[in-house]
Amino acid sequence: MQERDLREEISNIKNEAIAQIMSAKDVSELENIKIAYLGRKGKLNLLIKELKNIPGDERKHTGILINEAKNTLIEQIVNKKNAFKESARKWFDPTIPGHKPIVGHLHLITQAIREISKIFEDMGFVRVRYPEVEWDWYAFGALNFPENHPARDDWETFFVDALPSPKYGPMILTPHTSSGQVREMLMVKNSPIRMINIAKCYRRQSDVSHVPMFHQFEGMVIDKGISMVHLKGTLDYFARNFFGSERKTRLRPSHFQFTEPSFEIDISCNVCKGKARLPNGQGCRLCKEGWLELGGAGMIHPTVLINGDIDPNNYTGFAFGWGVERTYMMKSGLEIPDIRLIYSSDLRILRQF
Ligand code: PHE
Repeated sequence: MQERDLREEISNIKNEAIAQIMSAKDVSELENIKIAYLGRKGKLNLLIKELKNIPGDERKHTGILINEAKNTLIEQIVNKKNAFKESARKWFDPTIPGHKPIVGHLHLITQAIREISKIFEDMGFVRVRYPEVEWDWYAFGALNFPENHPARDDWETFFVDALPSPKYGPMILTPHTSSGQVREMLMVKNSPIRMINIAKCYRRQSDVSHVPMFHQFEGMVIDKGISMVHLKGTLDYFARNFFGSERKTRLRPSHFQFTEPSFEIDISCNVCKGKARLPNGQGCRLCKEGWLELGGAGMIHPTVLINGDIDPNNYTGFAFGWGVERTYMMKSGLEIPDIRLIYSSDLRILRQF
């Protein structure tokens, strides 16, 4: 009987002490609690005197309980003292300027994509996306590429390890956003199209100016009576809004399988202002000839329209497709020594944008 009461008493004293420690308001209060419970004449030590009335085995056990209770209280008191010190240090002064939390920001290419989308959306273009894992037909076949075109070779295109489709051929990773052209035509059917397709593209290349995964933005407009004048007007609008009001574009004859006629689009250089020479007489190092090459464009080939179920006798259209990374670097005049740095996750680079 005696032994069980004692156990209960130990536990009660312990809990009572802990409650007091928790609600103590300062260090001197803690000192008083310490004396009251752990001091020579404290409550726990008084209990030790009772031990002699308990039979051997139980006595030992009860002694251990008292010691444990003592240790718990010492620990609680020390913790509480530390908490007092901590809060003294953290005294809140509302006049001190706050700490700014570290926040991330959008990747520079995401920023560029948003900016590009906005300019085209203002002209009534609709942003779309089509599969990046795609059939050969949409990326090449429907776009007039001959069977033996080098771009269809293993060396340029990533082939997916999947069963080829009897109708659409092997599966690949899209090497350009032009694969969205025929998909969009089939999707929208015979109504006018103003699409801007921005997506990842994949090619087997990796050096200072190429990454195996990059982005393109592809514009396509189809309607009755669309001509090269609309193409030039659209590109000029984009160039002025993206690069600056004094920039001009130039169409240079070129060749693509899926456009006729085809062009390379150049933009006037912002370093030499299209003059190829700097005011000090030296040649411009950025462009060498006054113009920078943006990418391809052209009037959509009638065969491509037919593959998209559109009647080339009633409808015409233009398309252009440029690299986002390249276009963005031209805007800023940024000379990144190695384009792969953009995707290196090195914060020293990324934080600058
Ligand atoms: N798809 C072409 C390329 O990747 C660019 C292009 C798009 C050319 C649309 C003409 C029309 O180089």
